[in-house]
Amino acid sequence: MTRQPLVAGNWKMHGSRAENAALLEALLHGHSPSGAEVLVCAPFVYLLESSRLLKASHILLGAQSVCAEAMGAFTGEVSASMLKDVGCAYVIVGHSERRAIYREDDALVARKFVAAQSQGMTPILCVGETLEERERQQTFAVIGRQLRAVFDVTGIAAFKTAVIAYEPVWAIGTGKNATAEQAQEVHAFIRGELRGAGGTDATIANAVAAGIRILYGGSVKASNAKEIFAMADVDGGLVGGASLKADEFLKICAAA
Ligand code: PGA
Repeated sequence: MTRQPLVAGNWKMHGSRAENAALLEALLHGHSPSGAEVLVCAPFVYLLESSRLLKASHILLGAQSVCAEAMGAFTGEVSASMLKDVGCAYVIVGHSERRAIYREDDALVARKFVAAQSQGMTPILCVGETLEERERQQTFAVIGRQLRAVFDVTGIAAFKTAVIAYEPVWAIGTGKNATAEQAQEVHAFIRGELRGAGGTDATIANAVAAGIRILYGGSVKASNAKEIFAMADVDGGLVGGASLKADEFLKICAAA
């Protein structure tokens, strides 16, 4: 099965209205719709304006997080239906910064995944090990646990409309990316976990595993994107720092 590559920019907590508009203008100007699918995940407060700027373009819009609850007394939170309402097609769930800094555990990540899908948005489920876990040879155990926490709740068929991002925590924002071989090894493992998750639904699990896009994230730059994206099980990238510079991000998109 051929998978269309996806390159997603995760702007994190950066920018201003003016900076974000300028970045989007530059992306719209330089983007060619023929290659990889391109997505930008803007801060909540800029989503509506971004959605207007991206209207009628091929660049997709996503959010960086979502509340697991549908509505009600959850001060400060933003629901999936609100994100849908302002034009989001994708939502990042389980980013390592959410897991580590905001104490979001596997069970909450699973609920966020479900909330996104309940509104017809595609969750981008982030998984990845810390340096300590890698050094203790726990990479596969950690990622297997993070995946199972979701598909034990949703069933494997829910992954037909999901994206997975492998983001080794030690590579995020550090300038030290995983090698193409390290990324490929983990991506192949993830695909294998999905394939094995079907139980009686082996046919569905095989199709899901073959079709799902698995992005690599962690210090992706124009200079390393081509090599990483060339690996058989790497279907694009989730790009933080380098997505804030239009030229650099467009080069990364072109590499996919
Ligand atoms: P980085 O961030 O590209 O700046 O390493 C990636 C991410 O956190 O999604």
